[in-house]
Amino acid sequence: MNIGFVGLGKLGLDCAEVFAEQYKVRGYDIYPRTSELVEVCDISDVVSKSDWIFIAVPTPHTEGYDGSVPSSHMEPRDFGLDAVKDALRSINQYANSPKKVVLISTVLPGTTRRHFANLLDQQHQFLYNPYLIAMGSVKWDMVNPEMVMIGTKTGNPGEMSELIEIYRSLMKNDPRYVTGTWDECEAIKIFYNTFISAKIGLANMIQDFALKIGNINVDVVTDALAQSTMRIMGPKYMTAGMGDAGACHPRDNIALRWLAREYDIGYDMFDTIMHAREIQAKNLAQFLVHKALDYRLPIVIHGKAYKPDVPYCIGSYSTLVGHYVKKSGLPVVYLDPLADDPTDVVDTVGVSVFLWAHNRKITYEYTGDQKDTQPYCKTIPAGSIIVDPWRRLPRDQTGITVIHYGNTRNN
Ligand SMILES: NC(=O)c1ccc[n+]([C@@H]2O[C@H](COP(=O)([O-])OP(=O)(O)OC[C@H]3O[C@@H](n4cnc5c(N)ncnc54)[C@H](O)[C@@H]3O)[C@@H](O)[C@H]2O)c1
Repeated sequence: MNIGFVGLGKLGLDCAEVFAEQYKVRGYDIYPRTSELVEVCDISDVVSKSDWIFIAVPTPHTEGYDGSVPSSHMEPRDFGLDAVKDALRSINQYANSPKKVVLISTVLPGTTRRHFANLLDQQHQFLYNPYLIAMGSVKWDMVNPEMVMIGTKTGNPGEMSELIEIYRSLMKNDPRYVTGTWDECEAIKIFYNTFISAKIGLANMIQDFALKIGNINVDVVTDALAQSTMRIMGPKYMTAGMGDAGACHPRDNIALRWLAREYDIGYDMFDTIMHAREIQAKNLAQFLVHKALDYRLPIVIHGKAYKPDVPYCIGSYSTLVGHYVKKSGLPVVYLDPLADDPTDVVDTVGVSVFLWAHNRKITYEYTGDQKDTQPYCKTIPAGSIIVDPWRRLPRDQTGITVIHYGNTRNN
């Protein structure tokens, strides 16, 4: 097995040397590099003599966009893609047989499909395989990763098996192998990093509140939250679906906007969070409206209370979605036998576009209760469309079209 590396920088050289402990590795960089383990050679040799070619060239940000100086006021920009494009053109030029081409460099979701896939000759296979590696511990991180992400055009797991076998021979731990489309793996990598930024931003915001309000040691607060494994530190609330709702959460965020201003914190994260929540509801409403207009059907929101099995409509995300449906000029009704607010609630409906707002299993699974939400009407009439924001309803229902909102994969 011959391995090639294009780009022997901070990431590429150490990773190439890890591979070189088990395989023959050749590497190329536009700058002169040296290595005891990797044979540094010309790009033509790297390409023609390798079965697998790993690309670890830079995808640089524009100057001033690294976070070391203020940039939040500046126009957002994508990473630079030229070095990756150069590497792909070189592979086309020097390959004398089909190659497995593995991009490690960080790119934004959608980039491979939009910018790279068509550049590479069809005989080669393109895999996207970003690393979760930090400076200072590159070699250790490489063989002890939390997960290995491998993406292909279709996301068919069978296409990743050879690369997984190669990694199995290198790993010192037993990582998760996450397979998906190029786009899914691009998203996992970038949202992994930005989740960390969001988490640090929240912790440091509590520090700012501690300084302004007084009598607060930020560590007492963040330690208590860090140990809250039931809801905060764990997989709970990691299923995309309906927005945050209820008697407490939305109003707490809304009130914190006031506190941020009262203590002159200087920024308002809750404004952003609540604004996003509203636009997410609006996007969902518009999705329903488009379906309703396309199929000339009325809109029914299945579940009005803020969650299943309770009557409380206070802080309900269903009502927020309904608000945006109405704003777009269409009527909306709700099915919910428990709802404590009877406005627009009905008990029978005809053929409709349904929003499957409640999902008992997801809401209550932490209590061990695993029952599915049952229809709040006798039957869902044939010819209806169900928009399932939780993506759990079976899609093969006779006479009913089930749309898994948030799943845009073709397979
Ligand atoms: N450094 C990390 O810890 C880390 C971790 C994960 C992902 N990444 C990503 O990996 C990519 C590379 O990062 P890095 O830190 O190694 O960057 P780097 O700038 O240190 O290394 C890139 C190397 O590629 C070489 N290069 C540039 N253009 C080339 C070309 N056309 N052909 C061959 N070589 C070329 C450069 O000379 C340089 O040595 C980036 O997309 C980065 O975001 C880096």
